Amino acid sequence: MEIVAAADSDERGLSLLKVVNVLQRVVVFVHSFTLEKLHKLGPSTSSAEMPTMREEDIAAKIKEICQELVLSQEALHEVCACLQEELNRGLAKESNPEATIKCFPTYVRELPNGKEKGRFLALDLGGTNFRVLLIELGDRCTMDSRIYAVPQPIMVGPGDGLFDHIAECLASFIKERDMGHELLPLGFTFSFPCKQEGLTKARLARWTKGFKCEGVEGRDVVDLLKQAIARRGDVKIKICAVLNDTTGTLMSCAWKNHNCRIGLIVGTGTNACYMEKLEKVELWDGDMEDPLQDHSHEEIKGVVINTEWGAFGDNGCLDFVRTEYDNIIDRESINPGRQLYEKMISGMYMGEIARQVLVRLVSEGLLFGGYASDILLEKGSFFTKYISEIESDKVGDYNNCRIILEELGFNDATDAECANVRYVCECVSRRAAHLAAAGVAVLLNRIREESVTVAVDGSVYRFHPHFHNLMVEQISQLLEPGIKFDLMLSEDGSGRGAALVAAVASRSASMSAHAR
Ligand code: GLC
Repeated sequence: MEIVAAADSDERGLSLLKVVNVLQRVVVFVHSFTLEKLHKLGPSTSSAEMPTMREEDIAAKIKEICQELVLSQEALHEVCACLQEELNRGLAKESNPEATIKCFPTYVRELPNGKEKGRFLALDLGGTNFRVLLIELGDRCTMDSRIYAVPQPIMVGPGDGLFDHIAECLASFIKERDMGHELLPLGFTFSFPCKQEGLTKARLARWTKGFKCEGVEGRDVVDLLKQAIARRGDVKIKICAVLNDTTGTLMSCAWKNHNCRIGLIVGTGTNACYMEKLEKVELWDGDMEDPLQDHSHEEIKGVVINTEWGAFGDNGCLDFVRTEYDNIIDRESINPGRQLYEKMISGMYMGEIARQVLVRLVSEGLLFGGYASDILLEKGSFFTKYISEIESDKVGDYNNCRIILEELGFNDATDAECANVRYVCECVSRRAAHLAAAGVAVLLNRIREESVTVAVDGSVYRFHPHFHNLMVEQISQLLEPGIKFDLMLSEDGSGRGAALVAAVASRSASMSAHAR
């Protein structure tokens, strides 16, 4: 038995050796395979030069190159001053047609009072996915929702195709829940710049964030949705409100927090809305008392303004902080020359900015020995979520960073290389957080209330480990004395917020009916 066992164990030892051997060969093979896939970039990448540069010198050089992504307090103050001016231009009747920041009045005149009740449907279009939600408002809010993909060809195909897709998802949601007999009020969160002509009428000014469906710009999106539903003829709906995701975010937070006056999104795109006094909104063409207000928030006699601040800088006023990377991102985008502030801040672009910087560092021989992988050279391959993941590593630990670099085709990055990649990510995300903070500071300084809560949502704000802190720190630097603020994660603005707008709208409508 013992001999057999020994032979057995010998054999096991041998096969183990063989396995190790094979594994080693696989590693060598994979390594040489990746090496083959690496490209030498630029003239100054001679590997002979590389060993002569010390790690500290490389890090210092990288810092120097990234300096243009670091915004001084002076520059941020200037950004604030420009934004303030552009907001004024957007709000004034005379300058609005030429203004880049459109400041669309939303017709949402009231914030919720926390007592809203009922069952609502909501549609949410504007990010990477489309969602249908069923919301029950009471003392608490319960939600049932389903996410549907919006295939890329639909995002850039004919408008009818997009609305048919939305109608199809809605119909299947209603059928799955056997709700065909109920006519529930519906809030449509449509997160693109729209000129609202009422609570249920919104003309798309222009597409943003990778959408470009023909035949929709200039049209009322509620109308287009109704037509698509009529084409199917199998479901009935009652659209009570159309809103932007920023408005939904503000409403959702204001439901329980009565200091909330600003809604902010830092996700695929960036934008903010805020409660503005009616007398400052020259564009307001509605009745001062319409829709009728219950004035339970006596201090708020205003209207929510959807700033569409993503377009800030489209007239060149941000050129003093834009870099060569921003120019490339813009040039290669689906909407060149537009949404320039958004392109420096939001999740749709942040990863690509970092990739541009990394490629430049490789091409200067400062990273990966001057060799870039096929994947790194591919546009869009450095996802924005990588920035959050890399910055989630504890300082000095490069676990996530290594996994990501392997995904990108770099199998044996050194600690120093990981630290440099992390530094690039930090520069890009800090700049984004600081620019967004400048925007919030301007709104807080405008509102001038003693204590204001800012409702925030969006994947970048949610998942980046330091975004919140970076913003808070920077807002405090830019705020006028005596104003207190907090940034609060707003749960599900596009769903609960849409239901609340629909609820507030039906309350206002019934008050108006009583008054007549
Ligand atoms: C884009 C849209 C805007 C939206 C924002 C966040 O900037 O134009 O309407 O609020 O993205 O989703």
